[in-house]
Amino acid sequence: MQEIEYIKQEALKILAENDFGSSYVKIFGKSGVFTQAAKKIKDVPEKNRPIFGQELNKAKKEIEQLLLEKRTEKSTRPAIKIDVTAPGKKRELGHLHLVSQAISEIVEIFNKLGFTLQSYPEIDWDYYAFESLNMPASHPARDEWETFFVKGEKDPKYGNLVLTPHTSNGQVREMERAKKPPIRMLNISRCYRRQIDISHTPMFHQFEGLLIDKKVTIGDLKGTFDYFTTRFFGPERVTRLRPHHFRFTEPSFEVDVTCGICLGKGCRLCKAGWLELGGAGMVHPNVLSSGKIDPKIYQGFAFGWGIERTIAMKTNLPDIRLLYQNDIRFLEQF
Ligand code: PHE
Repeated sequence: MQEIEYIKQEALKILAENDFGSSYVKIFGKSGVFTQAAKKIKDVPEKNRPIFGQELNKAKKEIEQLLLEKRTEKSTRPAIKIDVTAPGKKRELGHLHLVSQAISEIVEIFNKLGFTLQSYPEIDWDYYAFESLNMPASHPARDEWETFFVKGEKDPKYGNLVLTPHTSNGQVREMERAKKPPIRMLNISRCYRRQIDISHTPMFHQFEGLLIDKKVTIGDLKGTFDYFTTRFFGPERVTRLRPHHFRFTEPSFEVDVTCGICLGKGCRLCKAGWLELGGAGMVHPNVLSSGKIDPKIYQGFAFGWGIERTIAMKTNLPDIRLLYQNDIRFLEQF
């Protein structure tokens, strides 16, 4: 068959003039000579079609064989010598994220003081996040927690669902769980607030401590912070209490720790020598009553601090958003 001979000649010419890759495309590719030829089968008189097909296939096989030979010719490279005695490549070992590392450390320190870890919901009812904490609906103090509300049904008793803006929602939940003091709870959870800048991320972690017993004083609270600070930040750093206001504690404080760079002397990072750790105070009698604990018999203290912030204070981080950028160059340093 003349047409087939012609196609073969064309393919051989391509083979002679091109390398393996382009020969392959030009011969067998979408618009390659064989693909085009196969399309022509409809112009062949019907009785000749079977023989045309057979011949075309034969030619295709021959060319394929030649093409394969061309490839092996090309790839005959000098054999690579392998040095089996060469030392292997060292694998990099990963580690826990800074936040996870800090959580383990914090849990361990408070465990030694008898606080046990409880887990309370990070999406919770308005009742536990605000109302039971002496913050009735529409109280302006709620604005201090820039809260995300969950769309959905409202519970007649518990109100809306919120992404918890703090771990204090665990306070009354813990009183309900334990039923009776003594209580020494640590609640660690993700929290959410509508804020983002160098010291805030919209999702962050807090750890909340709650201790309720008879004869609990501010001295116990201060002693607990000193114990934590020495173990977490090191013995050269100390805490102080600054008067503040929270609806759920009375009296209330902000807890400061001396700056890790100047150790309290004052520097560019801290200005006056102190960094703010978080809030604390003696549990408000109304909150004890919400948890069905008699405020005439029992007292307690509570505190709630940001984990990202404590990490920043320990490692002198300039921007806590670095913790969530997953930049390996940053993470590798810890
Ligand atoms: N929940 C408070 C906050 O997020 C901190 C706090 C906890 C204050 C417990 C007092 C007692 O700011």
